[in-house]
Formats: sequence, C-alpha cells, structure tokens
Amino acid sequence: MLKDSFGRVATDLRVSLTDKCNLRCTYCMPPEGLDWLPNAQLLTADEIVRLVTIGVERLGITEVRYTGGEPLLRRELVDIVARTAALRPKPQVSLTTNGIGLAKLAGALAEAGLDRVNVSLDTLDRETFKRLAHRDRFEDVVAGLEAADRAGLRPVKVNAVLMRGINDHEAVPLLRFCLERGYELRFIEQMPLDAQHGWNRADMVTADEILTLLQTEVDLCADDLEERGSAPAERFLVDGGPARVGVIGSVTRPFCGACDRVRLTADGQIRNCLFAREESDLKAALRAGAGDEELAERWIAAVRGKRAGHGIDDPSFLQPSRPMSAIGG
Ligand code: GTP
Ligand code: 5AD
Ligand code: SF4
Repeated sequence: MLKDSFGRVATDLRVSLTDKCNLRCTYCMPPEGLDWLPNAQLLTADEIVRLVTIGVERLGITEVRYTGGEPLLRRELVDIVARTAALRPKPQVSLTTNGIGLAKLAGALAEAGLDRVNVSLDTLDRETFKRLAHRDRFEDVVAGLEAADRAGLRPVKVNAVLMRGINDHEAVPLLRFCLERGYELRFIEQMPLDAQHGWNRADMVTADEILTLLQTEVDLCADDLEERGSAPAERFLVDGGPARVGVIGSVTRPFCGACDRVRLTADGQIRNCLFAREESDLKAALRAGAGDEELAERWIAAVRGKRAGHGIDDPSFLQPSRPMSAIGG
C-alpha cells in the first residue's frame, strides 16, 4: 500500500507518456515549445508497463491515467493501454488529452480497454483557439470529442481553463456546448505550473467567479446524494440535473486533504505531488537491474514523504522547477 505520513493512500496513478505537445497553450508553455526530454531518457513502453504492473499488483493502484504532454503523441499508446487493461485486478484506465488525433484513435483505444477520456477545450471560437494554443486545431479537438463519445469512452469530460479577458465570456457557451452533447464540463483554476513562470494570482479566474458567471444563466445546486471522495472537481446539478458541471478549484478550494494520487513522469521519476520538491528516480534503479520488490520499496518510500498540500498560499511557496507538461497533467 502507498500510504503517506498523513494517512492518505495513493490508489490513482497518473503516468506521463511524453513531455511533448502539439499545442502551445499560453498557461502551459511558450510558443516556441520547450527543450524536450531526449528519447533515451524516456521510459520505454516495456518499462512503463513494468512499473504500472508493480503499482497494480503490489501497491494497490486501482486507477491508471495516461497523460502528457500529449499522450496521443506516444506511438505505443494503444499497446500500453491494452497491456494496462489486461492487468489483474483490472484497473480503471483513462486518458487526459488535448484531443488532437483522438478522431483517428478513439475506436482502437476503446477496443484496447480504455475506459474514458478527459479532453481540454478552452474556447469555441477558432480565432481564440489559435491565439490561446498557437495552432489552428479547433476542429480536430471537436472531431476528437465526437469520436470519443461514439467509441463509448464515457463519460467524456471536458476541461476548460478560463482566462480573464481572453475566454471568460465563454463560460456559459462552453457549458451549453457540453450539455447539448452530453459531455461533462469542468472549469479549472489556473495553477502556477507554467514553464514561463508567468502565473499571477490576481489574473486567475477563481472558482467563486466561475460559479457567479454560470449562475447568471443557469441554476446550480450541490448534489446532496453524491460523495465527492478524492475528486478534484466539485460537481453541481445544472437546472435541477441530471446534467452536471464541475469546478476544480485547486488553488482557492484545495482538495489535498483527500488526495489519492501519485505520479510517474515520462522520464521515470515518482512524484508524490504535482508540487513536490523532490522526485524519486525509479528509472535509474530499474535500469541498474533492481527487482520488482526493490522498485516497490522505493515507491513506498517516495509516497511516505508526501507533504500535506501544495502550499501555494505559503510565503515559502516555490513553483516546481519542472512545468506541468513534464510532470504530467
Ligand atoms: P477525473 O475527474 O477522475 O477524470 O480526474 P481529474 O479531473 O483529476 O483529471 P484531469 O486529468 O482531467 O485533470 C483535470 C485538472 O484537475 C487538472 O488540470 C488539474 O488542474 C487538476 N488536477 C489533476 N490532478 C491534480 C492533482 O494531483 N492536484 C491538483 N491540485 N490538481 C490536480
Ligand atoms: N493550471 C491549471 N490547469 C492546467 N492545465 C494545464 N496547465 C494548467 C495550469 N497551469 C490543464 C489542461 C488539461 C489538464 C490536464 O490540465 O488544460 O486539461
Ligand atoms: Fe494531491 Fe499535491 Fe494535487 Fe494537493 S497538489 S491534490 S497533495 S497532488
């Protein structure tokens, strides 16, 4: 079991398959991109599956989420998903993606055993998309969403980061778009995880502001029957339900106390928190010939040292040196 010193148990493993991305969202990385990890430093598909297997078979991992960078850029993705879904006890297998390329791959991924997808979409306007992501790929994302839905990768969740003066007037249109199609929309507070270190608290559209924006047009109420558990999203019934909308208030409404996550980076480091200051190098151990038992022990030790929370409000807060694209979204 992966238990930290506060008694939280990590059961949700988030695995970054690559730090590369084919978009350049302003809240994530600069238009020119970043110095990507050299291929030799990336875990191979076999290494990824070996570590995931240790997590599932020995350490109590019940959910495996593949992320990036952009995980669809990893050629072996379908194979990795198939080998993950074949593990016993079978973990839930999910994907967080920008949706580009999903139109082509959704069917194969569903067949390989992928359960569901979360797709990022911050705007419904092609020009705003270009400005925000520095690529003209709006239609590809919409096609990816439709293909995921057709392939049964449900619930299809949509993640939107609102930015003041850029897309905050789109909160309600984004919600209508998702409601019409049966996608579950979640609005995310922007976190200090961008490569440029340009995050500024005053610019962040807060959960309270998001709810106020939505409530000008729809009625929101909490679902008293729902257990939130460790979910980052607070969910609200829209106009009495059954449709829902979520708000992920990572900064102003932190959910660290219930956190059940642990991360494996594309270069084989265990991170016990998005905002961890240290990583534990499983890749080096693995490549030096460590057995499963030793890898499991190192992983357990890495989780034990997890801090209470992200500490964004602490005066001593330090933004992680690696951006979200390298850590895994
Ligand atoms: P599901 O609802 O189970 O699909 O998971 P999720 O919402 O965690 O998945 P997703 O990968 O779509 O992440 C959405 C957003 O949640 C991210 O942009 C983050 O803002 C936030 N998030 C995900 N994991 C963490 C985490 O470990 N810590 C914090 N603070 N935020 C996280
Ligand atoms: N703050 C909040 N969310 C972010 N994402 C990427 N960078 C940030 C950030 N700095 C979102 C993406 C994606 C999810 C994995 O994280 O939009 O939906
Ligand atoms: Fe968990 Fe760290 Fe995210 Fe908080 S910031 S929810 S502790 S991973």
